[in-house]
Order: sequence, then structure tokens, then C-alpha cells
Amino acid sequence: MDAWRKELQGRLKAREKEGLLRTLKYTSDQIDFSSNDYLGLSRSESLFNEIHQELDALTIKRNGATGSRLLAGNTEYYEETESRLAKIFKADASLIFNSGYTANLAVLSSLPQRNDTILYDELAHACIKDGARLSLAKRYSFRHNDLNDLEAKLKRAEGKIYIAVESIYSMDGDQCPLQELVSLSEKYNAFIILDEAHSTGVMGEQGSGLAVSLNVHSKIAVRVYTFGKAMGIHGACVAGNNDLHDYLINFARPFIYTTALPPHSIAAIDCAFKYLSNNIYLQERLRNNIQFFLHAVQDLPNRTISTSAIQTAIYPGNENARIAATELQQKGFDVRPILSPTVPKGSERLRICLHTFNTKSDIEALASTLKSFQAVMHS
Ligand SMILES: Cc1ncc(COP(=O)(O)O)c(C=O)c1O
Repeated sequence: MDAWRKELQGRLKAREKEGLLRTLKYTSDQIDFSSNDYLGLSRSESLFNEIHQELDALTIKRNGATGSRLLAGNTEYYEETESRLAKIFKADASLIFNSGYTANLAVLSSLPQRNDTILYDELAHACIKDGARLSLAKRYSFRHNDLNDLEAKLKRAEGKIYIAVESIYSMDGDQCPLQELVSLSEKYNAFIILDEAHSTGVMGEQGSGLAVSLNVHSKIAVRVYTFGKAMGIHGACVAGNNDLHDYLINFARPFIYTTALPPHSIAAIDCAFKYLSNNIYLQERLRNNIQFFLHAVQDLPNRTISTSAIQTAIYPGNENARIAATELQQKGFDVRPILSPTVPKGSERLRICLHTFNTKSDIEALASTLKSFQAVMHS
């Protein structure tokens, strides 16, 4: 035991020495430019109350699901919610997962088979990469949003080909070229797996994301929607055809071998989408704040190109990114550094998330601090 603990401590010390030690912190009372609560739904008192009313109205009162969906954990309420989600995402069927992480793990580990190929964007989220690692298929990354590199790899790929991409990339905030990806997938008979984590809620008529907004949803084999970001709650679903739904129930281990989400979570999912439909103006409010920020930082050189709620300011080197974040935090802005290896070396950054509830004066103050700080860094 002692030797084992020493080994753990040694590895933690090594992390600390590299400046990469992770610790748990409470959220601050600073101005939130960091959370994924883009539409402010997680802090909406009205939504909170609606979820409670919905729970009170449930005829069967249970605190937990009591088992996997395949055992005691399934209810009509679950399936009715899945039908409503399928309608929102314009799919034949949807299947709820406990989180976006497990949904992607499920899809990527169960669909591609031994002789198949997974091609994933190099900036894809860890859960896409982890899912691909669990699969027996061959896996290769392609350069971020680079259709030429993807096509070169499509030409060499064997078996069934799966292309895994995100609507909006979580660390850069840029969008994938979805229509072009669809054309390429058709040319090479490949299947797209689209992670809509950061577009769910913020885009589309009822928060239905990028593929539905562009009307290409029927050409995408697998769509993953997550509810812990703009929807302000928790959980995820996979949307697609009925065979995909039945296949995941049968073969996706992260679905089969886990206790289902409790009724509270299902009520929250149901209510959050209803709430968003009734308050769809929130999307416009978010777009206005993004535009306001982009205008305020237009002469800031160290940004990547993004028109989404996720913005970046690059400070190469972990130390520089950390100094920049500390500086902003001391001025009352909750902005977090994103360090390598989470992002590639040299692209360490501040990840700045915009929200409906950020005021114009907060955004202005953040932008001018970023600019003054930029001047200091380069003086
Ligand atoms: C692109 C992307 N996919 C999936 C996930 C995981 O979703 P969840 O937080 O619901 O597990 C995240 C979360 O950070 C993400 O950014």
C-alpha cells in the first residue's frame, strides 16, 4: 500500500512540477465568462420551478431509475421524452444516455467493427477519441477542418468508414464545414458521426442544432446531442434511424451496463426543451452578445476565428496562459486557461464563453482588459 501511494504521489508531483496539476475548485462569484451555460438555463429560476411542477405531477414517484434501461430502469416517461426529442431533432428515434461522454463512447466503441476505419478530426473531444480507442477498428485523425487531408485519408481507408466531427469545436469555437463533409461522405460511402454538444440549444428552431438548421440531418448517420451545456441540465441523446436505436440498445456497453438517469433528469430534459421553445429569443440574445464581443475585440490579434459563444485568446505556453487567466480573474472575470496537452502545444489559451446574461458593460470591460493586457504582454 505504501509503495503504491508513493507511486501515485510521485506522479502527482511530476504533474505539479510541469504546472499541470488539476484540483477541484468552487465556482467563483466572478463574472461568468467560463461556463457552458450559454443561454443561462442552468440558472433560470423559471425553468427550476417548471421542473419541480413536472416532478410533482408525475403519477409514479421514484427517486432513482433502480437499474439499467434493459432491466428495471425503463419507463413510459423515458420513452415519451425520447419521442419528443426525436421530433425536435427530426430523427426517426432518439436514445437517452447518461452524459455526452458516454453517448460518444457508446457510438464509437460499438458501431465500427474490426476491419472498419474511424477518421476523426484532430481537435475532437476526448470522449470521441476514447470511444475510438475502445473500438477494434483502425483509427486515424485528420487535420482540423481540413477536407483535403480528410479526403486523402478517405482514399486509403478500409471497410466501413466513419467520420467523427463536432458541429462546434469545444476549445476553438469554430464550426465544421458540415455541407462539404456530407458531400465527401457521399462520395466515399462514409458515415458521419456528428457531435452537436456545443450547438444543441443555441442553434435551430427548437434548439435542434447545426445539422437540422442546415437541413442535412437526414444525411448524417449518427447525431449526438448533449444537455449539460446550453440546455443547462444534464444527459445526452443519440438521434438517428430506428435500426441505430435498436443497435445501440443491443451493443452499446455504456448504455447496457449502467443505471439509467433518474426521473428527475428526464423531467429536466423535457422541461428544458419546452422552456427553450417558449423562450427561443434567448438564441438571438446570445448572438447579439457574441456580435458585441467580436466588435469589441476586433483589433485583438491573438484570437482564433469563431462566431460561436466559444471565443479564444491565444497565449502560447502554459505559463503565459496561466498568467493571463490570473490577471483577468483578479479583475473579477471568471476566465479559465486551457493548457497543453488539452490543446496542442503553442496554442495554449484563454477560453472565453459568452452568455445571454453577460451585460454589455461586462463584455466591454472584459474586452478592454484583454487589450490592455495584450499591450503589456508585448511591451
Ligand atoms: C464536444 C463535446 N462532446 C462531448 C462532451 C461531453 O458531454 P457531457 O459533458 O454531457 O459528458 C463535451 C463536454 O465537454 C464536449 O465538449
